[in-house]
Amino acid sequence: MQIALNSMPLEHIETEALAVIAYQADDPEQGLARPTTRRLDEATGGWLTDLYRSGELTGKANETLVLHRPPNLRAKRLVIVGGGKRERFGGMELRRAAGALARALRSRSIAQVALALEGSSAEVVAAAEGLILGDYEPDRYKTEKKNGKPLAEATLVVPSVDGEQQAALERARVVAETQNWVRDLVAEPANRMTPTLLAERAREMAAQFGLECDVLDSARMQQLGMGALLGVAQGSAEPPVLIVLRYQPQAAGEGRPHLGLIGKAVTFDSGGISLKPAENMDKMKYDMAGGAAVIGAMRVFAQLKPAIAVTALVPAVENMPGGRAQRPGDVVKTLSGKTVEVLNTDAEGRLIMADAMTYAQRSGCTHLVDAATLTGAIVVALGHVNAGAFGNDQALLDRVLAAARTAGEKLWPMPLDDEYKELLKSVVADMSNVGNRWAGAITAAMFLKEFADPLPWVHLDIAGTAWLEDSKPYLAKGPTGIPLRTLVQLVLEWR
Ligand code: BES
Ligand code: MN
Ligand code: ZN
Repeated sequence: MQIALNSMPLEHIETEALAVIAYQADDPEQGLARPTTRRLDEATGGWLTDLYRSGELTGKANETLVLHRPPNLRAKRLVIVGGGKRERFGGMELRRAAGALARALRSRSIAQVALALEGSSAEVVAAAEGLILGDYEPDRYKTEKKNGKPLAEATLVVPSVDGEQQAALERARVVAETQNWVRDLVAEPANRMTPTLLAERAREMAAQFGLECDVLDSARMQQLGMGALLGVAQGSAEPPVLIVLRYQPQAAGEGRPHLGLIGKAVTFDSGGISLKPAENMDKMKYDMAGGAAVIGAMRVFAQLKPAIAVTALVPAVENMPGGRAQRPGDVVKTLSGKTVEVLNTDAEGRLIMADAMTYAQRSGCTHLVDAATLTGAIVVALGHVNAGAFGNDQALLDRVLAAARTAGEKLWPMPLDDEYKELLKSVVADMSNVGNRWAGAITAAMFLKEFADPLPWVHLDIAGTAWLEDSKPYLAKGPTGIPLRTLVQLVLEWR
């Protein structure tokens, strides 16, 4: 999609579709309160007021109205997008409205749009991201594309264009295009996205954008002593890898922060010997969504050049019940030296993450943030709306939560009291890889904490949010690319 800024008067814009936002309100005066919307109402001789009065235009969030041949405008169509209540209208709402607009146009095969904005660079970012993300369809393997034509050309119309807005648009474009790139990785079925293939994609990306990339193979992991990661991998014919990507800022040096981003990449999670039920097992191809988002974050950093060093560590394995698979009750030795009794082979994410986190510590990282589709329990706790955010350091946790808010991704803080550690006791080893029935997302995070301490660390459990079960007006069903924007926001604003 081509996307650009423009400051032409709305009446003069020649386009397939000119779009404005209306609010949901009791009277049209309030509903049409945005200056751009009011202006179009005036230009069209009160057309919008009439529509509002008739009840056809409601301003309800993400509702779209497509009207042909608007009077006195050069645009072929006028599209009015609902923004919801004016008091609640912010970045998240605009992002969704823009996404709904993109999807409404796509379903009608209208490939050109101009969206009227009030002008702030925050609006430019939200609108650009919303359009690009809304236009995405996971239809790579459909020989006949049935979801309309993608948007070819989008214009954001603002009162006047300045350098700050140009920079904001460029950043939003890189971020949202990369988020769609991440969604493509996550959508790939497990036969087309093995650990080896994921490493290839990371390597290609690193070469394209100029990042350092190391891929540790199983021989190297054996040498180092990554017994937990190797234990998970041994049931599969697909060899494991640890993908390491490095970004260095211009002004590197001693005492500067160095963030480690760890992303779970189980390219297929059958559960192993603790086999999952057949129903929905196909979904377990998205068990690499955390790893994909972390690789995507590096793709953004290579282009937008943040001020701090960032290393991505992505342990990639397939969790299968093959003849050499690890058994419930097996004891493995992690890279840290701690031993783990594997009571359930389906709690594999924490095992591979543990070794990657120790490796991050040894790589000189000063802070850690991880993203993982770690537990079904987080889905029970928070559903498909919020991802769970855990941490051992309030300052870093607050920073991540603030970044998520700015980026328009939903996180909810979860507790990590020491008492929960009790649940991971093992009779024969230092710890077990599972707790009991209760607080499953927390015991999983507690397990990771053992390998994060003493570094400040935040863990994002994205099992409920990495895959959208039903399409939304503003987003296709399938991979979401979460939490890419939070990671990007966190790092780009890091001082
Ligand atoms: N990959 C799953 C978690 C998951 C569940 C991701 C649903 C996406 C959607 C993880 O490896 C897993 O199997 N966790 C187990 C842990 C249990 C055995 C302690 C779970 O949540 O059931
Ligand atoms: Mn599992
Ligand atoms: Zn898993």
